[in-house]
Amino acid sequence: MNYYEKAKLAFESLRDRKDYYILAYESSCDETACAVVRGREVVSSVISSQIDIHKRFGGVVPEIASRNHILAIDSITDEALSRAGIELKDIEVVAVTYGAGLLGALLVGLCYGKALAYGLGIPFIGINHIKGHIAANYITRPDIDPPFIALVTSGGHSSIFKVEGFLDRNIEILGETRDDAIGESFDKVARVLGLGYPGGPAVEKLAKNGKNTFSFTRPFKGENHLDFSFSGIKRAVINTLSNASARGEEVNKEDLAFSFQLSAVSYVVDNTIEACRRTGIKRVLLAGGVGANNYLRNMLTEEGNKNGVEVILPDVKYCTDNAAMIGVAAFEEIKAGALPSDLSLDADPSL
Ligand SMILES: Nc1ncnc2c1ncn2[C@@H]1O[C@H](COP(=O)(O)OP(=O)(O)OP(=O)(O)O)[C@@H](O)[C@H]1O
Ligand SMILES: [Mg+2]
Repeated sequence: MNYYEKAKLAFESLRDRKDYYILAYESSCDETACAVVRGREVVSSVISSQIDIHKRFGGVVPEIASRNHILAIDSITDEALSRAGIELKDIEVVAVTYGAGLLGALLVGLCYGKALAYGLGIPFIGINHIKGHIAANYITRPDIDPPFIALVTSGGHSSIFKVEGFLDRNIEILGETRDDAIGESFDKVARVLGLGYPGGPAVEKLAKNGKNTFSFTRPFKGENHLDFSFSGIKRAVINTLSNASARGEEVNKEDLAFSFQLSAVSYVVDNTIEACRRTGIKRVLLAGGVGANNYLRNMLTEEGNKNGVEVILPDVKYCTDNAAMIGVAAFEEIKAGALPSDLSLDADPSL
């Protein structure tokens, strides 16, 4: 029997079990992450962040990210296994993000994970990074199952999904950004405000004592779809600063950060509640790095309460990129009947 035939048989025998270890990897951007999960339980989770390396460039430099993944991946594997108190021989599945993300960065985790699975003679599964972000919620709430609406707010995505199961065919996009992602707009606004990278947490901090003194027009007002646009809001912030500077005036940056945060956050919250109204689904899961933003967490919870919608929030430490969410997504896919990935699976930057 060849490797893939053996992998398929192994998946069949794992489908009804939840006591086995999955070794998971995430290397789509600037975090090299490895985790051991068992079912929805995180046994260990190690993240080697490159934020300090990329900070001086004001954003992630793809080639530098790939090279640093190579440097980190072997030692974080050892650390994840040792923190879990297990050895490689105890692992039954390897799960790896295969898209979306930076091509070179994805390839590091993907090739390492494939080689490991092949060497150990165990199945391997490629995981969609965004399904991983959604799965971060299952760690915090092991009792939650579809159907639900998922609001994904991250560095590359602002999307609303109708999720009726764990496989791709059960997931429908109800709305997505047509230009910048919400996290990207936080990062760009942070840059013009002189706050550095990554911008989201810095904008949130600056906005804390701000007031809503600037009002920004909501894109697509009056239109019937649930898509987003964030480039106009970002441009409005930049114009406010440059117009004031041309007039020799000072702008209150706390107020500008607050007004921006309010318009970006209320936009995603309103469309999500509208998605619940249209589908009749009364449960929302928040996902992605911007999900760490307290202003968003609070507003979504409040609006959910007002509209009879249950709002599930992932633990803040699982909002930004990590491998635990990838392992848990793999567990659910295996349980739902997914096939293992073939060793020819390619990285897909725009998955
Ligand atoms: N407290 C916060 N407030 C607002 N934004 C935040 C906060 N914390 C993190 N972010 C933003 O989250 C983004 C990073 O999230 P994440 O790691 O999920 O994105 P990514 O992996 O780059 O993109 P994607 O998941 O779409 O591929 C950055 O844009 C960052 O500024
Ligand atoms: Mg991400």
